[in-house]
Amino acid sequence: MKNNGYDAWLRYDKVKDDGLASQYREWTAEIVASEAAVEGPVASAIKELQLALPRLIGQTPKLVEEKAASKRFLAIGTLNSFSYVEEAVQGPIAALNDDEGYLLKTITAADCSYLVVTGKTERAVLYGVFHLLRLMAQGESIQSLQLAEQPKYRLRMINHWDNMDGSIERGYAGRSIFYRNNELLVDSPRIVDYARLMASIGINGIAINNVNVHRAETFLITDKLLPQVAQFAAIFRSYGIKLFLSVNYAATIELGEVDTADPLDPRVQEWWKQKAEQIYSVIPDFGGFVVKADSENRPGPFTYNRDHADGANMLGEALKPYGGLVLWRCFVYDCHQDWRDRSTDRARAAYDHFKPLDGRFLDNVILQIKNGPMDFQVREPVSPLFGAMPNTNAVMEFQITQEYTGQQRHVCFLIPQWKEVLEFDTKVKGDGSTVKEIAAGSIHPYAHSGITAVTNVGDDDNWTGHHLAQANLYGYGRLLWNPELSSEQIAEEWVRITFPDSDAVQQLLVKFLLESWSIYESYTSPLGVGWMVTPHYHYGPDIDGYEYSKWGTYHFADHKGIGVNRTVASGTGYTSQYEPEHAARYESLETCPDELLLFFHHVPYTHVLHSGKTVIQHIYDTHFAGVERVEYWIERWKELAGEVDEQRFAHISGRLQEQLENSKEWRDIVNTYFFRKSGIADEKGRTIY
Ligand code: GCU
Repeated sequence: MKNNGYDAWLRYDKVKDDGLASQYREWTAEIVASEAAVEGPVASAIKELQLALPRLIGQTPKLVEEKAASKRFLAIGTLNSFSYVEEAVQGPIAALNDDEGYLLKTITAADCSYLVVTGKTERAVLYGVFHLLRLMAQGESIQSLQLAEQPKYRLRMINHWDNMDGSIERGYAGRSIFYRNNELLVDSPRIVDYARLMASIGINGIAINNVNVHRAETFLITDKLLPQVAQFAAIFRSYGIKLFLSVNYAATIELGEVDTADPLDPRVQEWWKQKAEQIYSVIPDFGGFVVKADSENRPGPFTYNRDHADGANMLGEALKPYGGLVLWRCFVYDCHQDWRDRSTDRARAAYDHFKPLDGRFLDNVILQIKNGPMDFQVREPVSPLFGAMPNTNAVMEFQITQEYTGQQRHVCFLIPQWKEVLEFDTKVKGDGSTVKEIAAGSIHPYAHSGITAVTNVGDDDNWTGHHLAQANLYGYGRLLWNPELSSEQIAEEWVRITFPDSDAVQQLLVKFLLESWSIYESYTSPLGVGWMVTPHYHYGPDIDGYEYSKWGTYHFADHKGIGVNRTVASGTGYTSQYEPEHAARYESLETCPDELLLFFHHVPYTHVLHSGKTVIQHIYDTHFAGVERVEYWIERWKELAGEVDEQRFAHISGRLQEQLENSKEWRDIVNTYFFRKSGIADEKGRTIY
């Protein structure tokens, strides 16, 4: 067994329990596939079984015709393609209200018994097969199954920030799996394996290039490169995944074909219509465009005094005849703004720009809203824009790649963070208006909704740089399928499949993963303040460093206090963007939660938190404690020598050591800075610098 991490959660280690192994052998010795498919998701499902079963149970399944089947077999196919399916199957399937849901059921008929994996579409069947394999990888009985599942979210997307030269913006796991030196790696076997990994966690849309579309990537939508893009799309298609592209809003100009990108100019409109026709002629199921416009120096409709609805709708019109979507990002703010000017506040920007446009967007346009108002910080409040536009489709955007959360050198399991976001009750339509439900389209009846995220994948052997960062990718997919899963359940599932050999390893890793976000937060960013990172790289501490704070510090710390005043009473007024209950809670020092205090308020260092500590003492204590927790986990990990294969043990040990060094650096720099600013000594008399 390779232990370089390449197989990720599709390792299919040998099942150790003899009883279970023979049970699995009995049910899977023969496969009756209703589709005589050679390509497409059912064919992929069969291929997966043929790959997985020999590894799991040392038995290659035989593909047999229904009439030649023995007394017990595995039946695979879409519902309508079976001739012998019982009513028992029709009922539960009919109850699933979407076409991606599946049923796994063991059925005992008069003359035979079979385990059926079925759904309304081929994609559903593929998801069902991955579920079955997940059960086996975790050592669950499949003797009497009755499992009907469907995804919570319709769009379950991944965004790549890959560039054609092979680099990845905010990539921490090697080079791009799609491109090298401005060529597309269409023959790379990794693409198929990547599609398998993504389908196995239910991903159904992938945008394969960076939202910052440079000149080279603009050619992805031209004759020159479209045929190769279509090859990627074909691979994805056989795993039920639609391919999306990020496009340059000013592609008309960039490609030298029209001298403007004004969305109301008929020549621009016509150009995009023809472009859509051209794309769909080679990729009939093309997903659509992702667009970053008027943000961080990217072109957009503002240049022509048009607004975002004008821009997005122009593209929406072009894609509409083919069912294509426009994912229009709301990460729009003026990166040149002077941070000292408190009449503008970056946190306000998305809401201020987009809220007034509610109702103006076409049906196939979806706003893509980052989970927080700023930019994937360790801790932020939930974006007030999410749910605030009842008449406009929306998806939530998360960041799997650990840009601000340790860059896959530190362990930071992000599922607990995303769950907090999903559980946040926005109150936009009274109690129960959680982000979780809004993203599912059940609060406002959106035509399209769901969740997307910037991926953490590159061409490192193990895909994600840090072995443990695979848990974020896996967990992301699982959470999108079923947000009711707890962080613990997801962590447990992942470790059982990925480290199947040792209970001790599993137990330790689950605990460590669950604590890791809080550890990372404690030695980096106190009380929601954020941004104290090295300019551009965003790794390691630099208290005044963030690149866009050149006109003054972001945290507004002086010798008296720290934090950003975003109140209505005396600050930027950002709190007013929330529904009244939250607005009041954040506005008041008494009710603002500790973990977001410095996001909303500027307070003296001696301000006493709900925890009973002063702000300055909290900063000192958490920074010491964070490093101690890393030390603690390193000691625990060392005890597992011999329990984990050497390759992964050494890799994880190395990364943990680096995390420790870096966490000490964070502790010392943050504590020293605030000690010097405040002049207040640590109550516990520890050495600060
Ligand atoms: C962050 C990130 C950029 C990225 C941007 C975005 O600012 O640092 O690299 O381009 O987000 O989401 O568009």
